[in-house]
Amino acid sequence: MTGFTVLILAAGQGTRMCSDRPKVLHELAWLPILQHVIHAARSLDPEKILVVSGHGAEQVEQAFSGQGLSWVRQEEQKGTGDAVRCALPSLQAQSGNLLILAGDIPLIRAEILGQLYHSHSESGRPLSLLSTTLTHPAGYGRVVRGLDGQVQAIIEDRDANAEVRTICEINSGIYMVSLSHLSGWIHRLKNENVQGEYYLPDIVTMALGEGGVNAVHHEDFQSLEGINDRSQLARAEVVFRNRMVAKLMISGVTFTDPSSCWLAHDIKIGRDTVIAPHCILGPGVDIGPNCHIGPFCHLEESNIGPGVHIESFSHLNGAKVLGHNSVGPYARLRPGALLERGSKVGNFCEIKKSRIGEESKVSHLAYIGDADIGRKVNVGAGTITCNYDGKNKHKTVIEDGVFIGSDTQLIAPVRLGKNAVIAAGTSVSKDVPEGALAITRTLQKHIPDWHERKKKS
Ligand code: UD1
Ligand code: CA
Repeated sequence: MTGFTVLILAAGQGTRMCSDRPKVLHELAWLPILQHVIHAARSLDPEKILVVSGHGAEQVEQAFSGQGLSWVRQEEQKGTGDAVRCALPSLQAQSGNLLILAGDIPLIRAEILGQLYHSHSESGRPLSLLSTTLTHPAGYGRVVRGLDGQVQAIIEDRDANAEVRTICEINSGIYMVSLSHLSGWIHRLKNENVQGEYYLPDIVTMALGEGGVNAVHHEDFQSLEGINDRSQLARAEVVFRNRMVAKLMISGVTFTDPSSCWLAHDIKIGRDTVIAPHCILGPGVDIGPNCHIGPFCHLEESNIGPGVHIESFSHLNGAKVLGHNSVGPYARLRPGALLERGSKVGNFCEIKKSRIGEESKVSHLAYIGDADIGRKVNVGAGTITCNYDGKNKHKTVIEDGVFIGSDTQLIAPVRLGKNAVIAAGTSVSKDVPEGALAITRTLQKHIPDWHERKKKS
């Protein structure tokens, strides 16, 4: 597609969100609403993307900095028509057509915009608008058509009489318009309506006498729904999730109960992986093939290699699990956790900034922080790396083949040499030489007949 510019209106207050945060920064699938719109716009390869900011402008512009967007401010939010008026000076160098998008329609698909573009070019009319039909159209501008089926006007819900309110065809708020016609129309807009705002859809009436309006009705109403309040946001999240699940299923991923899972926009999952119910797969998650993610797992910013089993209730954030590992149930992998091939982290273990070498096992109730663990190491139940002295963090190095008995403290900095054995209950505060046994246990004493003597006293 060529010869067009995109304008995104994102200055509105978002009053109906009842929020301190600008509406377009609320997140859908862990990505700001406006970012979804920008992605759709960018995939069409326009000459320029200009965004109108206003309410919370600095915060909004900051959130999307470094993306090659152009910005214009609408200081006072006097309506969608006024937002376009503010943008006109920044569009002077542009020619051809302008695709106008609302920053609060995040489910819009590039394919629909492509259809609008082509229909607009073929129609030869100066203005095209996208409409759809909703069962519950309340709140939207209605598309009023004459007896000949031609669009005559858009009437906002609040300005509509009872008869107009029965119309279910709504204005999506997405338009393609010839730039040479636009500025004339915008300057003629009036704010004589219930809201006292300059309505952009009023250009429809102006276009009637100047080349006509091309209304493109689209069946996919879900992609055209706007987000004005939090229930609409929650509904959009479901639609977005279902779309991603459908794509993943086609590529060979099983979701036992997709409706109970939540997925970030950038999720990657390999073939033949099974996701059990109630999983939350947040941003930056890349799961390889043939994995099994048990119920109630929460993953963020983590890479999971092939054939990994993550059992229920595990929480992973910033972890790398290289392949064929067993994790959980109830494991917590924190940033910098690296599980090399075939290693295991079992129940109630917390791993932070540590490497667990190939085929090593940390099976029960352990805290491993700032540690480097080699191959085929066995870390017993209740082992704790004492990595923090109140001021600084220190490192624990555990070489290949070490066996650590249960309930052991490793007081860092400390190194356990290759094949060393640490007896259960030991507090290791000095380096252990290769192949040695370390034991700090006090000798066990027996006082005979204790029970009988107690009874007599
Ligand atoms: C708008 C349309 C309505 C359409 C609906 C579709 C108008 C007057 N009405 O209504 O016909 O059915 O979208 O979702 O256009 N904005 C600004 N500056 C402003 C006001 C709004 O930039 O002064 C931006 C908002 O940030 C938002 C977009 O324009 O992204 C739409 O504004 P909103 O107030 O949500 O309009 P609706 O009432 O939904
Ligand atoms: Ca809206």
